[in-house]
Amino acid sequence: MGVMIAPVRKAVFPAAGLGTRFLPATKAMPKEMLPLVDKPLIQYGIEEAIASGIHHIVIVTGRGKTAIEDHFDVSFELEHLLESRNKRELLAAVRAISDMIDVAYVRQKEALGLGHAVLRAKDLVGQEPFAVVLSDDVIDAPVPCLRQLLDVYETYGAPVLALMEVPAEQISAYGVVAAEPQPHAGMDGLVFRIHDLVEKPSPQDAPSNLAIIGRYILTPDVFAAIESTPPGRNNEIQLTDALRNLLRERPIYGVRFTGKRFDAGDKLGFLQATVEFALKRPDLGGAFRAWLESLRLCW
Ligand code: G1P
Repeated sequence: MGVMIAPVRKAVFPAAGLGTRFLPATKAMPKEMLPLVDKPLIQYGIEEAIASGIHHIVIVTGRGKTAIEDHFDVSFELEHLLESRNKRELLAAVRAISDMIDVAYVRQKEALGLGHAVLRAKDLVGQEPFAVVLSDDVIDAPVPCLRQLLDVYETYGAPVLALMEVPAEQISAYGVVAAEPQPHAGMDGLVFRIHDLVEKPSPQDAPSNLAIIGRYILTPDVFAAIESTPPGRNNEIQLTDALRNLLRERPIYGVRFTGKRFDAGDKLGFLQATVEFALKRPDLGGAFRAWLESLRLCW
């Protein structure tokens, strides 16, 4: 008899950051609401959670984040208007997302770090495993990235982090792991057992080129680990540091996921994501491609 592994039903979305990389656009608007084509960043993450079987969403918001709450609420006026104008497709698009999720909000009054943000969700998560999704990391994948992590979680019942190889000159923008490959049926070379984690190391101190990307499956013991973690890099309470503490008590795994990740919290990454997502859209792709070609960027 195998050990019962608790199902993951909830996903936490930290969304209380100040979005300084995108000022002035983010002065009055949360960066999670920046649109990629016509959907806010956070909606891509929420749709990934839904596609992975997770429907309970916890959003950790901060000052000026009411736009997020409004976005996932029912908008009676808007729905009425679309109905009266017979705009069925738009009506369905506006309704779909609030119909599919059950969303709760908790406030992070001060931006004291990712670990601190996750800790704010403690009461809403309770004693269950949960996912964490960072909306900045937009991942286009044949199998949703969270689903890939869940497949590994369902084997070990332990925390699982998304990993990606990054070039040495970019490594200090990430949490970085020391890890060894873990044999795993059907995912050879993609699953790792993590031995150490360092938040934003200098290139010479980085334990590998495997960076943590913003998708995590965590177990509820991470909350106590965060509580006992002092401020680290940038004087913030880092989730990476808390996981490093937790590693003393239990194994933690990583998955080098299959898919293309965009750093949509960065201007260049955001533009790249915009272009690639627009090209894939059946209603826009053709015209957009023709226009891009008319720019004659490659001779
Ligand atoms: C956060 C985490 C970091 C991780 C990164 C992924 O950093 O602290 O460990 O590698 O997300 O995007 P941030 O980008 O918020 O500074």
